[in-house]
Amino acid sequence: MAIRGILTDTDPALRKVCRPVVNFDRRLWDLLDDLKETLAKANGAGLAAPQIGILRRAVIVMDDEDQMLELVNPELVWTRGEQDGFEGCLSVPGRWGKVKRPMRARVKAQDRMGNWFEAEGEEIVARCFCHELEHLDGHLFIDHTDRLYTNEEMEQLLEEE
Ligand code: NI
Repeated sequence: MAIRGILTDTDPALRKVCRPVVNFDRRLWDLLDDLKETLAKANGAGLAAPQIGILRRAVIVMDDEDQMLELVNPELVWTRGEQDGFEGCLSVPGRWGKVKRPMRARVKAQDRMGNWFEAEGEEIVARCFCHELEHLDGHLFIDHTDRLYTNEEMEQLLEEE
């Protein structure tokens, strides 16, 4: 296991469509372990393989019990409702934006052995499912917002609330 460097928003790798995972082998397990270790170090809510420069469809999402969910070849099954809130990304450090997302989302994915399963999330977990899955198609949250806020502006907004 190793902590990997996280690519930031001008890196072209973040704009690529990732390829499906086909081999559920040691290389995939190392990738998933590295993603988890890197995410834990960065104290984030989720991390996608392209963010560490690996163009494969694999992401990690923190669930509502703070467990790291491994999602390989994930797809949205359905989404319900809507939420509007601030979002950030480890690949867009120090910037935040208001993004509309579904309030609930259900995904299907494979685990590290290749077995399909489904998982559901609400609020921040639903937001994270949508955010991480779109990384696999080369999209970033900044594509959905006109205005980015700095850390200082965010702090000020939170104080005003
Ligand atoms: Ni992100």
